[in-house]
Amino acid sequence: MVVNQSSAWQALMALAESGVATKHLQDWFQAQPDRAERYSIELDELYLDYSKNRIDDQVLDGLLALAEQQGMAQWIERLVTGDIVNDTEARPALHSALRGLQGAPASGLAAKVQPEIESQFNKMAKIVNKIRAGHWRGYSGKPITDVVNIGVGGSDLGPLMVTHALQVQQSPVRLHFVSSIDGTQTSNLLNTLNQETTLFVLASKSFTTIDTLSNAETAKDWLEERIERSGTLMAQHFIGVSTRPDKMLEWGIPEENQLLFWEWVGGRYSMWSAIGFPIALKVGMKGFYQMLEGANLMDEHFATAPLAENIPVIMGLVDVWNINFLNINAKAILPYDARLKYLPSYFEQLVMESNGKSVNRNGDKVPYKTCPILWGEVGPNAQHAFYQLLHQGTQAVMSDFIVPVERDDFERYSGADKDASLLKQHHLALANCFAQSRVLMLGDAAIPDSLKASFNSPYKHYEGNQPSNTILLKTLSAKTLGMLVALYEHKTFVESVVWEINPFDQWGVELGKLIAKETYACLAEDAPLASFDASTQALMKRVK
Ligand code: F6P
Repeated sequence: MVVNQSSAWQALMALAESGVATKHLQDWFQAQPDRAERYSIELDELYLDYSKNRIDDQVLDGLLALAEQQGMAQWIERLVTGDIVNDTEARPALHSALRGLQGAPASGLAAKVQPEIESQFNKMAKIVNKIRAGHWRGYSGKPITDVVNIGVGGSDLGPLMVTHALQVQQSPVRLHFVSSIDGTQTSNLLNTLNQETTLFVLASKSFTTIDTLSNAETAKDWLEERIERSGTLMAQHFIGVSTRPDKMLEWGIPEENQLLFWEWVGGRYSMWSAIGFPIALKVGMKGFYQMLEGANLMDEHFATAPLAENIPVIMGLVDVWNINFLNINAKAILPYDARLKYLPSYFEQLVMESNGKSVNRNGDKVPYKTCPILWGEVGPNAQHAFYQLLHQGTQAVMSDFIVPVERDDFERYSGADKDASLLKQHHLALANCFAQSRVLMLGDAAIPDSLKASFNSPYKHYEGNQPSNTILLKTLSAKTLGMLVALYEHKTFVESVVWEINPFDQWGVELGKLIAKETYACLAEDAPLASFDASTQALMKRVK
């Protein structure tokens, strides 16, 4: 039976239609003054407040019944022990096993893979420590000062996001990221670097991604302007991270410079593997392991906490309520800390590449909504950009506000006076975060009496009733970042279980890759254009 025909789904639909869906958040809060305690969960250094959603105990009970009906606990067990949950590719999705060395003993395949994970982490540690100590030298004998990660999607966004978030930690080498196929980033960056002291990391799970390989070829050409002995070039200036040692070798990367991961690590779930190499370069292996520990804390919570107290389960179910029963089709990710600048892009890939599907595990088209459109920006900047739509547009949007409670990094910067002004800025960020979620929730009711007269105009009307979650992290650290990302991974899985879709494949991106190859052949080799549509033909003719 399709899930939207099931009794649990139908019961929720009836609840929504009974007036629950249209009840204003202001009324929910008036009726239940203890909502903050009732609808919040804390795990170690992470606190989730989900009270600003249009839910009550009856809605939550209905959602938990839906989760039980869908076999949520069994699916979680299947995921973390290494069962084949990615059925279209016949693979497990064992990203949590990468965090397993840090926690309680794993079971199933998750336990069996621990020795190979350990062995790759040990190899990675040796290379990381050598580079950080200044002992990895370029062709002329000078220590490496700049490391360029060449990768795209999951082989770029995780390390980019985390190294930016943990920027306060001083890395002994400068880190750079290039991803885009058009060559702008590579060209701009290479103009500022020195061949003698630059090391490239080719990060690609498949080692076939043209975006990455074309940037890598450009990097190789640039090195060859200065280095004639290609053996030296490959051994001293390239490291490869991939599941394909054969392809790395073919490209010229020697075995000792290869870091491996496995098919059972999805690209967008891979920053916990050797794909996290730049993270380890930035914060050291100790910091890298702290990130894994944080994720492991969330894994254990996800695997063992009762569904009603399980943070990823609750977050996923509340999203399902918003999407499928309140008809909200967009989600904003709003971090109130500029160190989390790349977090929205990271979650865009994680969530939309996972759940942007319309066919269920049986291959049937689903007759209900799945993944919403997700986007975001550093909150205080977005307030001066797209928040207008959140407050007064015609779209219902749900939001996740994310902010650290303390800025322990500020203390290290400077003297007391400057700290005071920075601390003030942090409190301003927190105040803005809380003010925005409050106004989105209450609308006009948030306007204080003293200002009511000046807001007496249809243009100054705030409908409110926009739901949101607020996630507080004690501080922004490798550990809390690990917890946060693992939370979103698991909540994405929870949603996929309800929607009966496979979140671990990405067939949607494959056709575009193939067609781009064919199009490139015509563009570069003057092949006939007749097989293309009129618009594409005209565009190609203009270029030619
Ligand atoms: O195009 C999407 C994708 O397949 C992502 O899933 C993946 O993270 C990215 O490409 C990069 O792939 P690879 O690591 O194999 O180069």
